Amino acid sequence: MREEGSIMPFSRDFQKDPFIVIWELTRACQLKCLHCRAEAQYRRDPRELSFEEGKALIDQIYEMNNPMLVFTGGDPLMRGDVFDIAKYAIEKGIRVSMTPSATPNVTKAAIEKAKEVGLSRWAFSLDGPTAEIHDYFRGTAGSFDLTIERIKYLHELEIPVQINTVISRYNIEYLDEMAKVVEELKCVLWSVFFLVPTGRGQTSDMISPVEHEKVFKWLYDLSKKVFFDIKTTAAQHYRRVVIQQKMREEKTRNGDIQYLDALTQQGLTGSIDGLGRAPKGVNERKWLCIHLPHW
Ligand SMILES: C[S@@+](CC[C@H](N)C(=O)[O-])C[C@H]1O[C@@H](n2cnc3c(N)ncnc32)[C@H](O)[C@@H]1O
Ligand code: SF4
Repeated sequence: MREEGSIMPFSRDFQKDPFIVIWELTRACQLKCLHCRAEAQYRRDPRELSFEEGKALIDQIYEMNNPMLVFTGGDPLMRGDVFDIAKYAIEKGIRVSMTPSATPNVTKAAIEKAKEVGLSRWAFSLDGPTAEIHDYFRGTAGSFDLTIERIKYLHELEIPVQINTVISRYNIEYLDEMAKVVEELKCVLWSVFFLVPTGRGQTSDMISPVEHEKVFKWLYDLSKKVFFDIKTTAAQHYRRVVIQQKMREEKTRNGDIQYLDALTQQGLTGSIDGLGRAPKGVNERKWLCIHLPHW
């Protein structure tokens, strides 16, 4: 079993083994986010995998060179057996994280259970630096305050916290404030999503191509100053911006640097995080997403 916090080796052959497996345990969720790609609904889908099927799935995942496993949804806490499933995976030696929705399901008892089974990381969404922006986007009053409250409790129990933020026209003007909140909340990773127009996500809510470039450059500059890791989702071109910036900086300091070096040398790309997230490109074909047929 890998030690908690240790770096995942890069010897992994991405043609065969995924780096990370994200399992949508359920489509059910009590929030009503404007952008929800899962078009989440209140009730659980009867086609969800049963507990026994879930265990069989975990066995198969483990066989793929034991990738990281994330329980997502919908809201994984809408399943009463979520911690039993997590326990099964963790006892096998799999590193398990979870991305619950901020609803009354996130009780202190649920967080204590997560601690007890050995969850490696808890991720919460925060889509604005204020309750007004976040709650409007999430379609539910009180979601911001609950998230902040529960993050405090996660810290008390020493469960590492990740924050997920979707960049859209609703928060593009508030990114500096957003980064400050992420810093104050002492998260280990800021996972920055870029709105994809699918499910309830609307093209009109996306930021423009020029704004994407500006946000990438801003993110890169931020990544050099902050203690938390930054990762992007639905923004493969962030990688190109990081490499271009590195090449520019190295050229000024030491003369020429080749694209491939900027891509692969640790310390040059700035893209290696505390978990050894791949400096190699990982595209969707190397990911295995397990989900219901709606995605
Ligand atoms: C599907 S959610 C699951 C976890 C939980 N329900 C939540 O929203 O935090 C995982 C992440 O995907 C993001 N997401 C959902 N719909 C999206 C979309 N259309 N485009 C980009 N990201 C999206 C969510 O905001 C969240 O950060
Ligand atoms: S919390 Fe997540 S699953 Fe629930 S509606 Fe929002 S984006 Fe969808």
